Amino acid sequence: MISKKEQYETLLAQARSLMEGEDDPIARMANLAALIHTTFGFWWTGFYRVQDETLLLGPFQGPVACMRIAYGRGVCGTAWKERRTVVVPDVEAFPGHIACSSESRSEIVVPIIREGRVTAVLDIDSRDLNTFDATDAQYLTLLAELL
Ligand code: SME
Repeated sequence: MISKKEQYETLLAQARSLMEGEDDPIARMANLAALIHTTFGFWWTGFYRVQDETLLLGPFQGPVACMRIAYGRGVCGTAWKERRTVVVPDVEAFPGHIACSSESRSEIVVPIIREGRVTAVLDIDSRDLNTFDATDAQYLTLLAELL
């Protein structure tokens, strides 16, 4: 059985080679979301970009989602405001969680920081409780840094 760490190591190498030769941030986000999503079979994997002081839906894989999220709202807005990765083992226990889908049970949001500013967040939802841990936080941060 391949460990999660080994899966992420492979994914990281694939992501590095995918990013080579393409600078466009949307194209990079689109393929990175697809790569993470298909590797782990998450429920929803995607990006929200900071645009006009709001989080605006970016490239993603999975069902339709909320298009705009305000600063400090939900898990995504909290990761933006607090400039830190937020791991939510049970979305029902997170005050202010925004339920784009009733299927989502746990979630992780990693901020993407450029020159001291949060420019986007990577958001991943799982249909299972307790899906994300420190290994996910560590590798998803490394993946986000590739953008
Ligand atoms: N649950 C998120 C909203 C985005 S969706 O999960 C795709 C939140 O609370 O910010």
